[in-house]
Amino acid sequence: MIGLIQRVLIDHLEIHHGKAAVESIAAQAGVLSLGRRIDTDYDDADTLAFFAAAGDYLELDFDALMTLYADLFIKWTRQHYPIFFSMADSAQAFLGRQPAIHASLGAGIRDPHLRDRVSDKFRVVEKSELKLIVDYRSANGLCTLYRALFLRVLEEYGQSGELVETRCQHRGDEACRFDMTFAEESAA
Ligand code: HEM
Repeated sequence: MIGLIQRVLIDHLEIHHGKAAVESIAAQAGVLSLGRRIDTDYDDADTLAFFAAAGDYLELDFDALMTLYADLFIKWTRQHYPIFFSMADSAQAFLGRQPAIHASLGAGIRDPHLRDRVSDKFRVVEKSELKLIVDYRSANGLCTLYRALFLRVLEEYGQSGELVETRCQHRGDEACRFDMTFAEESAA
Protein backbone atom coordinates (compact mmCIF):
# COMPACT_ATOMS: atom_id res chain seq x y z
CA MET A 1 0.00 0.00 0.00
CA ILE A 2 1.14 3.55 -0.66
CA GLY A 3 3.17 4.76 2.33
CA LEU A 4 0.80 7.65 3.08
CA ILE A 5 -1.45 5.12 4.82
CA GLN A 6 1.32 3.91 7.15
CA ARG A 7 2.73 7.41 7.59
CA VAL A 8 -0.39 8.77 9.32
CA LEU A 9 -0.32 5.97 11.89
CA ILE A 10 3.45 5.85 12.38
CA ASP A 11 3.66 9.64 12.86
CA HIS A 12 0.87 9.51 15.46
CA LEU A 13 2.50 6.63 17.35
CA GLU A 14 5.91 8.27 17.27
CA ILE A 15 4.59 11.58 18.62
CA HIS A 16 2.34 10.11 21.32
CA HIS A 17 4.11 6.87 22.27
CA GLY A 18 7.72 7.36 21.15
CA LYS A 19 10.08 5.80 18.62
CA ALA A 20 10.71 2.76 20.80
CA ALA A 21 6.99 1.93 20.75
CA VAL A 22 6.96 2.11 16.94
CA GLU A 23 9.96 -0.22 16.77
CA SER A 24 8.37 -2.68 19.15
CA ILE A 25 5.06 -2.65 17.20
CA ALA A 26 6.98 -3.25 13.95
CA ALA A 27 8.89 -6.12 15.58
CA GLN A 28 5.65 -7.59 16.89
CA ALA A 29 4.21 -7.35 13.35
CA GLY A 30 7.32 -9.00 11.90
CA VAL A 31 7.91 -5.97 9.66
CA LEU A 32 11.62 -5.67 8.95
CA SER A 33 11.79 -2.32 7.21
CA LEU A 34 9.01 0.07 8.04
CA GLY A 35 8.28 2.56 5.24
CA ARG A 36 6.14 5.69 5.09
CA ARG A 37 7.12 7.45 1.89
CA ILE A 38 4.04 8.93 0.24
CA ASP A 39 5.31 8.11 -3.27
CA THR A 40 6.19 4.47 -2.60
CA ASP A 41 4.11 1.31 -2.66
CA TYR A 42 4.84 -1.02 0.28
CA ASP A 43 3.94 -4.63 0.88
CA ASP A 44 0.22 -4.88 1.77
CA ALA A 45 0.78 -7.77 4.20
CA ASP A 46 3.34 -5.68 6.14
CA THR A 47 0.93 -2.74 6.32
CA LEU A 48 -1.94 -4.90 7.58
CA ALA A 49 0.31 -6.65 10.11
CA PHE A 50 1.55 -3.28 11.38
CA PHE A 51 -2.03 -2.04 11.84
CA ALA A 52 -2.98 -5.23 13.69
CA ALA A 53 0.03 -4.95 16.02
CA ALA A 54 -0.71 -1.24 16.61
CA GLY A 55 -4.26 -2.19 17.62
CA ASP A 56 -2.85 -4.68 20.15
CA TYR A 57 -0.42 -2.08 21.50
CA LEU A 58 -3.16 0.55 21.86
CA GLU A 59 -5.61 -2.07 23.18
CA LEU A 60 -8.16 -1.18 20.50
CA ASP A 61 -10.19 -3.64 18.46
CA PHE A 62 -10.09 -3.16 14.68
CA ASP A 63 -13.25 -1.01 14.54
CA ALA A 64 -11.95 1.31 17.26
CA LEU A 65 -8.52 1.49 15.62
CA MET A 66 -10.17 2.47 12.31
CA THR A 67 -12.23 5.17 14.06
CA LEU A 68 -9.07 6.61 15.60
CA TYR A 69 -7.22 6.25 12.30
CA ALA A 70 -10.02 7.94 10.29
CA ASP A 71 -9.77 10.98 12.55
CA LEU A 72 -5.97 11.16 12.20
CA PHE A 73 -6.23 10.57 8.46
CA ILE A 74 -8.74 13.35 7.77
CA LYS A 75 -6.73 15.82 9.89
CA TRP A 76 -3.53 14.82 8.07
CA THR A 77 -4.99 14.94 4.57
CA ARG A 78 -6.78 18.20 5.27
CA GLN A 79 -3.43 19.72 6.24
CA HIS A 80 -1.37 18.23 3.42
CA TYR A 81 -3.93 18.06 0.60
CA PRO A 82 -6.29 21.01 1.32
CA ILE A 83 -7.13 21.27 -2.38
CA PHE A 84 -9.10 18.00 -2.28
CA PHE A 85 -11.34 19.46 0.43
CA SER A 86 -11.74 22.89 -1.12
CA MET A 87 -12.78 21.26 -4.40
CA ALA A 88 -15.77 19.62 -2.70
CA ASP A 89 -18.49 21.64 -0.96
CA SER A 90 -20.26 18.67 0.64
CA ALA A 91 -19.51 15.22 2.03
CA GLN A 92 -21.15 13.57 -0.99
CA ALA A 93 -19.08 15.68 -3.38
CA PHE A 94 -15.89 14.73 -1.52
CA LEU A 95 -16.79 11.04 -1.31
CA GLY A 96 -17.80 11.04 -4.97
CA ARG A 97 -14.35 12.32 -5.87
CA GLN A 98 -12.52 9.86 -3.63
CA PRO A 99 -11.88 7.24 -6.36
CA ALA A 100 -10.39 9.99 -8.55
CA ILE A 101 -8.27 11.25 -5.62
CA HIS A 102 -6.89 7.74 -5.20
CA ALA A 103 -6.19 7.39 -8.89
CA SER A 104 -4.33 10.71 -8.89
CA LEU A 105 -2.12 9.59 -6.00
CA GLY A 106 -1.57 6.22 -7.62
CA ALA A 107 -0.50 7.99 -10.80
CA GLY A 108 2.78 8.86 -9.03
CA ILE A 109 3.75 5.19 -9.00
CA ARG A 110 6.06 4.24 -11.86
CA ASP A 111 5.10 0.59 -12.31
CA PRO A 112 1.94 0.58 -14.50
CA HIS A 113 0.67 -2.66 -12.92
CA LEU A 114 0.89 -1.22 -9.40
CA ARG A 115 -0.64 2.02 -10.62
CA ASP A 116 -3.70 0.21 -12.02
CA ARG A 117 -3.95 -1.83 -8.83
CA VAL A 118 -4.47 1.40 -6.86
CA SER A 119 -6.97 2.99 -9.24
CA ASP A 120 -9.01 -0.20 -9.80
CA LYS A 121 -10.04 -0.53 -6.14
CA PHE A 122 -12.91 1.96 -6.13
CA ARG A 123 -15.68 2.70 -8.61
CA VAL A 124 -18.59 5.12 -8.42
CA VAL A 125 -21.69 3.13 -9.42
CA GLU A 126 -24.33 5.81 -8.95
CA LYS A 127 -24.26 9.45 -7.98
CA SER A 128 -27.08 11.93 -7.44
CA GLU A 129 -27.62 14.90 -5.16
CA LEU A 130 -28.28 12.98 -1.93
CA LYS A 131 -27.15 9.50 -2.88
CA LEU A 132 -23.87 7.84 -3.71
CA ILE A 133 -23.06 4.20 -4.40
CA VAL A 134 -19.42 3.09 -4.48
CA ASP A 135 -17.95 -0.36 -5.10
CA TYR A 136 -14.70 -1.33 -3.38
CA ARG A 137 -12.73 -4.38 -4.39
CA SER A 138 -9.41 -5.17 -2.75
CA ALA A 139 -7.71 -8.17 -1.21
CA ASN A 140 -6.98 -5.89 1.75
CA GLY A 141 -10.66 -6.01 2.75
CA LEU A 142 -10.61 -2.60 4.43
CA CYS A 143 -14.34 -1.81 4.30
CA THR A 144 -14.17 -1.04 8.04
CA LEU A 145 -11.77 1.76 7.16
CA TYR A 146 -14.15 3.02 4.46
CA ARG A 147 -17.08 3.12 6.91
CA ALA A 148 -14.99 4.95 9.53
CA LEU A 149 -13.85 7.49 6.94
CA PHE A 150 -17.41 7.98 5.70
CA LEU A 151 -18.50 8.98 9.23
CA ARG A 152 -15.46 11.22 9.71
CA VAL A 153 -16.06 12.97 6.38
CA LEU A 154 -19.69 13.63 7.37
CA GLU A 155 -18.42 15.17 10.61
CA GLU A 156 -15.91 17.26 8.70
CA TYR A 157 -18.68 18.77 6.57
CA GLY A 158 -21.16 19.06 9.49
CA GLN A 159 -23.62 16.74 7.76
CA SER A 160 -25.54 13.63 8.61
CA GLY A 161 -26.11 10.57 6.51
CA GLU A 162 -26.13 6.81 6.44
CA LEU A 163 -24.06 4.06 4.88
CA VAL A 164 -25.43 0.58 4.25
CA GLU A 165 -22.98 -2.03 3.04
CA THR A 166 -25.24 -4.00 0.73
CA ARG A 167 -22.46 -6.29 -0.49
CA CYS A 168 -19.26 -7.26 1.32
CA GLN A 169 -16.18 -9.24 0.38
CA HIS A 170 -16.11 -10.61 3.93
CA ARG A 171 -19.54 -12.17 3.25
CA GLY A 172 -18.32 -13.76 0.04
CA ASP A 173 -19.33 -11.03 -2.43
CA GLU A 174 -16.98 -10.09 -5.23
CA ALA A 175 -16.78 -6.49 -3.99
CA CYS A 176 -18.07 -4.35 -1.14
CA ARG A 177 -20.87 -1.97 -2.08
CA PHE A 178 -21.44 1.17 -0.04
CA ASP A 179 -24.90 2.60 -0.47
CA MET A 180 -24.76 6.09 1.02
CA THR A 181 -27.51 8.62 1.59
CA PHE A 182 -27.13 12.16 2.80
CA ALA A 183 -29.60 14.25 4.78
CA GLU A 184 -30.91 17.33 3.01
CA GLU A 185 -30.44 19.66 5.95
CA SER A 186 -26.93 20.41 7.17
CA ALA A 187 -26.47 19.30 10.81
CA ALA A 188 -24.24 22.33 11.42
C1 HEM B 1 -7.71 13.48 0.59
C2 HEM B 1 -8.29 12.32 0.81
C3 HEM B 1 -7.67 10.96 0.59
C4 HEM B 1 -6.41 10.63 0.25
C5 HEM B 1 -5.24 11.57 -0.01
C6 HEM B 1 -6.34 9.17 0.21
C7 HEM B 1 -5.24 8.43 -0.08
C8 HEM B 1 -5.15 7.06 -0.02
C9 HEM B 1 -4.00 6.29 -0.41
C10 HEM B 1 -2.70 6.86 -0.92
C11 HEM B 1 -4.30 4.97 -0.20
C12 HEM B 1 -3.41 3.77 -0.49
C13 HEM B 1 -3.84 3.27 -1.85
C14 HEM B 1 -3.17 1.98 -2.27
O1 HEM B 1 -1.98 1.77 -2.00
O2 HEM B 1 -3.84 1.18 -2.93
C15 HEM B 1 -5.64 4.91 0.31
C16 HEM B 1 -6.28 3.74 0.66
C17 HEM B 1 -7.57 3.68 1.06
N1 HEM B 1 -8.45 4.73 1.16
FE1 HEM B 1 -8.03 6.68 0.78
N2 HEM B 1 -7.57 8.67 0.53
C18 HEM B 1 -8.40 9.73 0.77
C19 HEM B 1 -9.71 9.66 1.12
C20 HEM B 1 -10.40 8.50 1.38
C21 HEM B 1 -11.79 8.43 1.77
C22 HEM B 1 -12.69 9.66 1.98
C23 HEM B 1 -12.10 7.12 1.91
C24 HEM B 1 -13.39 6.47 2.30
C25 HEM B 1 -14.51 7.07 2.57
C26 HEM B 1 -10.89 6.35 1.62
C27 HEM B 1 -10.81 4.98 1.72
C28 HEM B 1 -9.66 4.25 1.56
C29 HEM B 1 -9.57 2.81 1.75
C30 HEM B 1 -10.69 1.87 2.18
C31 HEM B 1 -8.26 2.44 1.44
C32 HEM B 1 -7.64 1.05 1.46
C33 HEM B 1 -7.61 0.52 0.04
C34 HEM B 1 -7.01 -0.88 -0.05
O3 HEM B 1 -5.79 -1.01 -0.10
O4 HEM B 1 -7.77 -1.85 -0.06
N3 HEM B 1 -9.90 7.23 1.30
N4 HEM B 1 -6.13 6.20 0.41
